[in-house]
Amino acid sequence: MNEIVEKIQQLKKEKNAVIMGHYYVPDEVQDIADYIGDSFFLARQATKIDADIILLCGVRFMGESAKVLNRDKRVLLPEINADCPMAHMATVERIAEVRKEYDDVAVVCYVNSTAELKAASDVCVTSANALNIVSKLPNKNIFFIPDQNLAHYIADQLPEKNFIFNDGFCHVHHSISKEQMEAAMAAKPQAKVCVHPECKTEVVAMADYVGSTSGIIKYVAESDAEEFIISTEMGVMHKLKQDNPGKKFYTAGNMQICPNMKKVTLEKVLEALESDSEGIQMSEELMNQAEAPMRRMLELA
Ligand code: 13P
Ligand code: SF4
Repeated sequence: MNEIVEKIQQLKKEKNAVIMGHYYVPDEVQDIADYIGDSFFLARQATKIDADIILLCGVRFMGESAKVLNRDKRVLLPEINADCPMAHMATVERIAEVRKEYDDVAVVCYVNSTAELKAASDVCVTSANALNIVSKLPNKNIFFIPDQNLAHYIADQLPEKNFIFNDGFCHVHHSISKEQMEAAMAAKPQAKVCVHPECKTEVVAMADYVGSTSGIIKYVAESDAEEFIISTEMGVMHKLKQDNPGKKFYTAGNMQICPNMKKVTLEKVLEALESDSEGIQMSEELMNQAEAPMRRMLELA
């Protein structure tokens, strides 16, 4: 074990901290996490943590979610500037306008969003549970924020609902093009194609399997196929290769890297554990308002 990992393990025990991480953080950070998973797993797991400190290896909205569900704990982000651009791609003003325009509307907020956006919404979802949750809502009109691609993926499967779309997107997934997919599929015609629903509709349409990062990991593990084209952030390859040493993985293009997730390094994890920072702070009012749609997601999922 290298020196920095040893120090992290020691401090973690001394300070009674738990390390949670998303599959998109660097491999070596995934390796030291107590819990590693997709956004839904992390949100649900955050309600079950028995520790003084939660060290969230991911982007800011993940830390905010963990804090909202754990008011009495210190929630630390190794890199405070690791922020998801999509989390800011909707506005509370637009939500208010839509609420005025439509009587029977549910504002559905992808967890990849700021606490302020969650606070103005009716229910949160992740890519793993959005279809299930939206299908259970009694409302006809659905304003889905901030991701247009996930919204279209769900809307296509629920024709009985009237979706109002927002124009946010994840630059990592949105940048995967149909042409890149065609080239990857032509090079490996035998490979099964796995696509995250944050990708464009035309890319999603090319998939054998569409799902969240955990969904893709499960699909690959259960599949008899031996080769896969993986269209999501590269970090997921670490778990895929660990779990399936005999299988081969390819990507469409080589730009599927989230620069914000990659800011979370082992050095930053150690610095965060060494610090006496109070961690993520939000007003009580904001946390109360953001908690309600998150709890509703956990109940409905
Ligand atoms: P999931 O964790 O729901 O697969 O979402 C992917 C993502 O972009 C997280 O930032
Ligand atoms: Fe945001 Fe996309 Fe990065 Fe996830 S992968 S944190 S949605 S920019």
